[in-house]
Parts: sequence; C-alpha cells; structure tokens
Amino acid sequence: MAIEPLANVPLSPPAPEDLYFSESQNAWILSRHRDVLAALRSADLSQARPPKTATDTNAKPAGEKVHSEIHIPLLSSHTSKWQTEINWLASALLQPLFANRPVDLVAEFIRPWCLDSAIALTGINPIHSARLARLVSHLSESDAAPHDAAAKSRATEANQKLDQFFLWSSASYEKSLFLGIAQTVPAFLASAWAALLQHPAEWKILQTHPDWIPKATEELLRYAGPVHSLFRQADRETSICGTRIAAGDRLILRLASANRDAQQFAEPDRLDIRRGATGHLALSSGFHYCSGASLVRMMTATATESILARYSESKLSNSFEWSCGTMLIWPSSLPVLPGRVV
Ligand code: HEM
Repeated sequence: MAIEPLANVPLSPPAPEDLYFSESQNAWILSRHRDVLAALRSADLSQARPPKTATDTNAKPAGEKVHSEIHIPLLSSHTSKWQTEINWLASALLQPLFANRPVDLVAEFIRPWCLDSAIALTGINPIHSARLARLVSHLSESDAAPHDAAAKSRATEANQKLDQFFLWSSASYEKSLFLGIAQTVPAFLASAWAALLQHPAEWKILQTHPDWIPKATEELLRYAGPVHSLFRQADRETSICGTRIAAGDRLILRLASANRDAQQFAEPDRLDIRRGATGHLALSSGFHYCSGASLVRMMTATATESILARYSESKLSNSFEWSCGTMLIWPSSLPVLPGRVV
C-alpha cells in the first residue's frame, strides 16, 4: 500500500494528537510539539527518506547526497553580503509588474526571483536560466506527484543534468544551496504570502510597520512553513517522551501539526504577526537544524518588504491550487489583484 497522502487542508494541518503507531503507514506518527522536538533532538534516530510503500524497509537515505544530508556553514555574514544582490534582483523583476492587472505572484515573481538568486549566489552563468528553470520544475512536479513514474523519471534525468552545473565546484554544498533557494524558498514564500493575503489586516499592519517583518517571518514560518513532514528511522531501541521505539522502526514527524499545538502556542490556528513565534519547528531543531535558516529569513524579509512597498490592499483575485508532496506543501499559483500601486 502506498504511503497515505497527508490529509491536509492547506494552512490547516491536522490537529496534533498523541504519538501512535500507524499500521497502514508502518510508522510511528508524531504530531505533538513535545514529541516532534524530542525526535528531532534524539541521537538514536537518523534521517530517512519517505517510504515508497508501507512495507518498504529501505527508508534510509542511500549514498547519494540529499538536501538534508549536507551541512552548509552558512553564516549570517554570508547572507548580509548577498542581500544587496538579491534586493536588486527583486526590484528588477517587480518593475514590469507595476501595471494594475492581475498577477500570478508565483509565476511572475517568486519562482523567477528565487531562481535568479540561486544562480547569482552559486555563480552559475545566467545564460542557463531558462534551462535551469525547466530542470527545477521537473523536480517540483515529481515532488508533487511522488507516485507518478513518468514524473519521477523526468526528475531523475533533471537531477543528473543539474549535477553537470556543479562539477566544477570545489564546495560540495553548491547544489544543495541552489536547490534550497530555487525550490524550498519559493514554497515558503508562496505559502507565507497566501496566508498574509487571506489575512488582509495583517498585510496592512506589516505595510505600516515594516520593522515587524523579522517577527512576522517567525510567525509565518510557524503558521505556513512548507515542510509538513520529516522522516526518521531508529538506529537502536529508544524512547520518545516515554514511548518505546524499537530499533529499525520508522517515524513520521508532522512538523506543520506540531507548529499548531495549543500546548506550545496560544491560539495556534490564529495568524498573529506580532506573536514573535519562538520554538516553532519549521526549520527543524537540533543536529539537523536548517543550515539555510539565516538565508531563508533574509530572503523572506527582502521579498516581503519589496512586495509590501509596491502593492497596497492587494487581494486574491481567484482560487488557486496547492501541491502536496511527501515533505513539502506549496501553492502552485497565487493570483493577485494588486491594489493601489505605491
Ligand atoms: C523556507 C525554506 C526552507 C525551509 C522551510 C527549510 C527547512 C528545513 C528543515 C525542516 C530541515 C531539517 C531536515 C531534517 O531534519 O531532516 C532542513 C535542513 C537543511 N536545510 Fe533547509 N529549509 C529551507 C531552505 C533552505 C535553504 C535556502 C538552504 C540552503 C542554503 C537549506 C539547507 C539545508 C541543509 C543543508 C539542511 C540539512 C542540515 C543538516 O542535516 O545538518 N535549507 N531545512
């Protein structure tokens, strides 16, 4: 049996519940904040790939390096150096969007800006931009349809082609950096802005108080973080908050649900950009804490400030679809009718 898709109304993840073993997924399901945090910090659990089937025991990452296996020493000093460059890229892309017409923020700003930023920060020649956009879209399509064999084969090919761009690189983290920026950041920006557009009062407050953007970013990561689940496998017998986990057992950590745990956050389903959400798990915690965290915060602040400065009273002009993969969830488009242009 295939792994069950996450029953998920976007931006309304399933409510957290006590840790239990799911026979159908052949894995422990953890969704309370304290359980997920304990699992993330446990030295007895290792990162694992999402299982293809409930009986698939090959859940451990194989030799190939994946996004989450490479440690990137990204310091805030690196990210502030990059800020000027990506700020400039944002202005260049937003310039033609000034006209008072419906705009798909994902297609016309978020994706191209993240791709341009990834190209600039990894030093790839921008003449390859269109090709790279195609390769990244094959990877995202396959993420959104993990059981589609044709999409998977296109993604495998795209991955191999992408490797060619990093052959010259002495730093092993370049491809991971590229994918973090070109694939994961767009998922978050689109979710975060969808949440803000659905809460026009919060959009308005941020427009008046752009100095609250860092605080708002933490709340948006909590409320609309794109990584809904992570996967682990027990290296040895262990215990998570008093529950015995046998060696070899698999665990699914529901990050999005943990970030809505009322035992951790007051009124967890309310978006409150003044909350200053500390302790959210959107970027993980412990040993595998996201190495791109300072870059994520800087990119979110840069893009959000740019968009708020140009579009006032913007509203969603249409309904839109969400894509949900085994780990990530993101809006495929964000059709917006920009209000009065500042
Ligand atoms: C909003 C965008 C992002 C989100 C929500 C995010 C989230 C996460 C999460 C939840 C993990 C933990 C994985 C695990 O424990 O199994 C992680 C790890 C990681 N992330 Fe990100 N990430 C984002 C962007 C980035 C970017 C831009 C980079 C590249 C600079 C990056 C690089 C990494 C790396 C290298 C790890 C693995 C750290 C380790 O295993 O030691 N991420 N990220």
